Amino acid sequence: MSHEDFPTDSPAVVTCGLPYANGDLHIGHLRTYVGGDVYARSLRKLGQRTAFVSGSDMHGTPVAVNAEKEGLTPEEFALSYHETYEETFPQFNVEFDNYGHTHDETNTEVTTEIVRRLIDGGHVYEKEIKVAFDPVEEQPLPDRYVEGTCPYCGAHARGDECDEGCGRHLEPGEIEDPTSTLTGNPAEYRDREHKFFRVSEFQEYLQSFISRLEGTSNARNQPREWIEGELKDWCITRDLDWGIDYPEEGTDLVLYVWVDAPIEYVSSTKQYTERVGSDEYDWEEPWKVDGGIVHVIGRDIIQHHTVFWPAMLRGADYNEPRAVMASGFITLNGKGFSTSRDRAVWADEYLDEGFHPDLLRYYLATNGGFQQDVDFSWERFRERVNNELVGTVGNFLYRSLLFAYREFGGTPEADLSSEVRERIDDAIDDFREGVNDYSVRRVGDAAVRLAAFGNEYIQRNEPWKLADDDPQKAQVIRDCVQIAKAVGVLFEPIAPGKAERLWASLDEGTSIHDVELGAALEPPAREFAEPTELFEKVADERVEELNEKLQARIAESEADASDEDADDSATDEADTTADVDLEPLATERIGFDDFQELDIRVGRILAAEGIEGADKLARLEVDIGVEERQVVAGIKQLHDLDSLVGERVIILANLEKAELFGVESNGMLLAAGEEADLLTTLGDAVPGEKIR
Ligand code: MF3
Ligand code: ZN
Repeated sequence: MSHEDFPTDSPAVVTCGLPYANGDLHIGHLRTYVGGDVYARSLRKLGQRTAFVSGSDMHGTPVAVNAEKEGLTPEEFALSYHETYEETFPQFNVEFDNYGHTHDETNTEVTTEIVRRLIDGGHVYEKEIKVAFDPVEEQPLPDRYVEGTCPYCGAHARGDECDEGCGRHLEPGEIEDPTSTLTGNPAEYRDREHKFFRVSEFQEYLQSFISRLEGTSNARNQPREWIEGELKDWCITRDLDWGIDYPEEGTDLVLYVWVDAPIEYVSSTKQYTERVGSDEYDWEEPWKVDGGIVHVIGRDIIQHHTVFWPAMLRGADYNEPRAVMASGFITLNGKGFSTSRDRAVWADEYLDEGFHPDLLRYYLATNGGFQQDVDFSWERFRERVNNELVGTVGNFLYRSLLFAYREFGGTPEADLSSEVRERIDDAIDDFREGVNDYSVRRVGDAAVRLAAFGNEYIQRNEPWKLADDDPQKAQVIRDCVQIAKAVGVLFEPIAPGKAERLWASLDEGTSIHDVELGAALEPPAREFAEPTELFEKVADERVEELNEKLQARIAESEADASDEDADDSATDEADTTADVDLEPLATERIGFDDFQELDIRVGRILAAEGIEGADKLARLEVDIGVEERQVVAGIKQLHDLDSLVGERVIILANLEKAELFGVESNGMLLAAGEEADLLTTLGDAVPGEKIR
């Protein structure tokens, strides 16, 4: 590929996909923002001049629809989420140089300017199309105001996106069997004049653009099919009151949200320049002259960033993106996040549990490659924190710095050994290659692997066995302090808070955020104070407690959610995996031994009653032959509890005990699907018989 490696002389801009100002953030959202933040910090470590920007996505029907539900104006509604996001990101050490929103003055101006350029360049035309109408409300139904069947794959789809099927962007008028999400009425198609952006004329350009595009491979591969096939023009206006006005007299149309949203990347950079001055960072350089534009997004919006957006930039005579990094999704204990079912770990919730943000950053940035889907579980979180952050990184830093402090009051007088210098050099190379490969995981691994080397090094040299006046002792410790300093520098993008603390404890006057990779090899301070431990273990009990909370919450909201399924799928932005579809089969096989570890028994229900205060939970007494068990299950609203008494059911007997709403659950009732269809036996197996 033709791009020069980072660092380059021209400035870079790293952007993160704008969150819709439409709901609470969960750790699935955070993956993109942490990824972007790690990437921007890593570029700076290479000495690359970088702006890191984003903003809230205020427009569009999802916002309009949800505001309406809450009885607020779209502006009030969106602004309040915008303000929350502005506060939340820094709490995760995600520090944008500028965080604006799409409804602010700058974005309105820049959007108007860019669309005018497209119009003046002859890239926009008017066409009469069929637009869905609610015949009762007498109102047009753009995008998410309508749902129906995807014409490409037949899946149930939203007006502008086949979110449960093939993932395609859908143009107005394309969706089949449209119904209004306002009233549930069948919608009609009526003729309306709309504006179209001539994407088709950029086909050749886009093909060459894609061959230059860097970033994750999914961002190059996924759009091939669209770019090679027949490219359709793109409707850029909507019949809505909420949005940025289409900049021509004689229409009352607003721009489609996907026009002004990516333009916020430009506007936000411009605001940054307005704040710091163009000597420090000139937004026009990356956007109009030359520079590296890197978009960090979720993989569901690749098409927008590799087809529509580069065509718009080209048509308006702006620079093209250098790279698109598209992250995979997050699952929770192997299943999709579902905000409507409260099946999520919320950003606030994570912080309220008292965990340091850097722990989650580490998990999200390094658990699998950026484009892979990543599973989150509290169990895995504990494992990674305890083994890697505490066991490898924390352990090395603490033992070596404590030793240095006790024996030498800081860094002993000795020259760095060539072995350690080379090892640190290698780590710096790994880091640099990771950045140029757009791999935040490799960036994180570089630091952790260096710390692992440090542990091995100190263990191999056993300085504690050496006499105080043995120069070898000073040498080993001198090396270890250098490794510690280098780990700090390399780990800063992943764990900025922790790295800053380490830096302070090494008595390095500056801020670690301002130093570049070269600092890893600069001599450490002669004296420093007694170190403290940087990371703490997560206790096993915490995992149990967190899982119980999560389970109880999911059980609580599951019935609600299935009642409202239809609505939710039309409006819930964050539902990336629809539970109405069958889950894909597990790809990993387990051994027969694993199966045998499950002690599954036939049981008979002796009593069943609802748990007071819990909407969904019931307490069951079950005879499982060998003993009687109390089991809590989320079936209160799904079954007539009285009629269950005497029924034969199936119980997983050796599941860990859990407490739900203060009631102990000693085993799990097995059931199928959302409606908790209870499992039983066909013949007359007796309670206590084992399932095999
Ligand atoms: N708000 C959109 C979403 O969450 C993303 C907009 S990204 C941008 O899907 F490119 F438009 F900026
Ligand atoms: Zn489809």
